[in-house]
Amino acid sequence: MGAYQIRGGSPLRGVIPIHGAKNSLLPILAATLVTKGECVLHNCPRISDADVALAILRSLGCEARREGQTLIVNTYPACETEIPAVLMQKMRAAVIFLGALLARFGAARLTHPGGCRLGNRPIDLHLLGLRLMGAQCEYEGEELLCRAAKLRGATVALPFPSVGATENLILAALGCDGEVVLCNAAREPEIADLCGFLTACGARIEGAGTSVVRIRGGCALHGTEFTVMPDRMEAATYLCAAAATRGEITLTHTEPAHLRAVTDVLADGGCEITQYARQITLRCDTLRAVSPIRTAPYPAFPTDAQAPVMAAMATAQGVSVFEETIFSDRFRHVPALVRMGAKITATRRYAVVEGVETLHGACVEATDLRGGAAMVIAALAAHGSSTVLRSEHTERGYAALVQSLRDCGGQIIDTE
Ligand code: UD1
Repeated sequence: MGAYQIRGGSPLRGVIPIHGAKNSLLPILAATLVTKGECVLHNCPRISDADVALAILRSLGCEARREGQTLIVNTYPACETEIPAVLMQKMRAAVIFLGALLARFGAARLTHPGGCRLGNRPIDLHLLGLRLMGAQCEYEGEELLCRAAKLRGATVALPFPSVGATENLILAALGCDGEVVLCNAAREPEIADLCGFLTACGARIEGAGTSVVRIRGGCALHGTEFTVMPDRMEAATYLCAAAATRGEITLTHTEPAHLRAVTDVLADGGCEITQYARQITLRCDTLRAVSPIRTAPYPAFPTDAQAPVMAAMATAQGVSVFEETIFSDRFRHVPALVRMGAKITATRRYAVVEGVETLHGACVEATDLRGGAAMVIAALAAHGSSTVLRSEHTERGYAALVQSLRDCGGQIIDTE
């Protein structure tokens, strides 16, 4: 179990280059399985979730190696259709291998995916779409068995634009006879990136990144070279850390257009934000409470930024209200922020944050990936020393978190 020791109270100042996106890389690694060749992926962050995805690929018979920020995956030798339970329980995105296995082999055996505990996280929408494509999906005890001699084209209308279900169904559709039309698909930029990768491999996909995606199945896919898009949640986290510490940072290698919902909120709070083509600078002298924030599917305010923004608003002047509509239990970071002196009252759906003048150091335990990031932000802003236990949660999704913050003057060390 790792921990961060943080001495707070100094403004962050400096430049942080943003890494490749976790939520793009993971489905792309699953997608390599549908190709039968070598894929060279650039801008791949060193995060533990990527290691899990590589372990899954290897357990299926693929070859995978890392050279710096580049991953080289050869899926030609893949021969297994079963994902070990120990790997499934390590991250939610492991379930995206289901669609890829069905497309490649017409069969998959796996257990329910683990990942951050944010409330109930069923996979009914994934299975709904797969069944419409002709897959038989049955549980045998804890194991889910999916089979399809041949997947068929279908129109799938998702009752909710689930990110994971959209990705899974796009991958499964590649193995169909005919066309799959996915309606009410999620529009997160990571889905467009996944489709960009697949198109580079020879897939025929229309409407990527919109709510209607058409996938023509049956095209033989080849390997390719591809650069993963920048991580918008890593960027959002550092912007919040700069706001919380009343600092000034510049993020490079980022995509400002993907961050609009977050930068609009921070600008509403009084931060000065300057955007260039691949760069954002945020400067914060005083921070005010913001208009009510409601999480919702892209392009609205992202649930993954809710905890980091809340940590920043803990010391803003006035009252900010958060409504979480995506996950049923995503305020698990609140008790830790309260221990640091924040004034927050939360129900399952709403959190009311009354900004205080200063936070103070405390020993807290990361509850999940973004909740842990929120605690790091609060600790950087707080007076005194803090310990954030269970840093393995943040290491799932942030590459070089400690180094990036230290480069901007943050007093943080990893005690592992
Ligand atoms: C992805 C992201 C995660 C982000 C989330 C929402 C990855 C690896 N993870 O997670 O960081 O917080 O999108 O933007 O990309 N749901 C169902 N049935 C289903 C599927 C989902 O009820 O079959 C519900 C979930 O329980 C949740 C909501 O839909 O309440 C959103 O889930 P979804 O969009 O699928 O998120 P993930 O793909 O798990």
